[in-house]
Amino acid sequence: FTIMKAEDYNSMSLLAAKKVIEKIKEQQNIVLGLATGSTPEGLYRELIDDHKQNGTSYRNIKTVNLDEYIGLDKTNRNSYKSFMYEKLFQYIDIPPEHTHIPNGIADDPVREAERYDKLIEQLGGVDLQILGIGHNGHIGFNEPGTSFSSRTHIVKLENSTRMANSRLFNKVDEVPSQAITMGISSILESKEILLLASGSAKAPAIKHLLSEDVSENFPASALKLHKNVTIIADSAALK
Ligand code: F6R
Repeated sequence: FTIMKAEDYNSMSLLAAKKVIEKIKEQQNIVLGLATGSTPEGLYRELIDDHKQNGTSYRNIKTVNLDEYIGLDKTNRNSYKSFMYEKLFQYIDIPPEHTHIPNGIADDPVREAERYDKLIEQLGGVDLQILGIGHNGHIGFNEPGTSFSSRTHIVKLENSTRMANSRLFNKVDEVPSQAITMGISSILESKEILLLASGSAKAPAIKHLLSEDVSENFPASALKLHKNVTIIADSAALK
């Protein structure tokens, strides 16, 4: 891993944004892999600021999100589709048809997962994948025990994950119990990966990632099998 230590959340976000913008300048039709959650929100704010101030264009960019809840309709503000629109897409010049998120309300979720894998392949694969990390080491919605050979698939969410995510819902019961997520193998096919972590609550997960062996019990450890991973973490997450 290349590890970049940032002082705090804002500098982590700024470092990540610089890296993304640099890639876009190199290759204007890049396929960007995106994540939701609290961690990349600052990165998205920086990208929006840069778009406004410097005019970095997203017209030729394609995005592929990691995951989506199953069963939240389009208007639900907690769907990842809404999240991406609210936090990023509405503020940049990306054509809506260039933004891809697994469809969490597909009639046949298994077929939707297959469609998503094919779509990524057709796009030529992900050039740069942004990741956050769960307290239990999950990446995307791949919980501990997920096979490293997994492709996009349907998962049952662990209670700890539902609890962690319930902060955005009225109550934990409203958090869906299933999701659709890119698999570990799909994630590892990205040409480059940027893992972001901020805050002391993530410190044990980062410590585990850096000090323990590769194991399916800690999904993020699969990243050790990839040649081009950068971790940008703030000082609290690196303690
Ligand atoms: C979100 C995702 C998740 C989050 C992880 C950390 O698309 O794939 O793996 O990255 O749950 O979430 P936050 O950033 O909210 O701590």
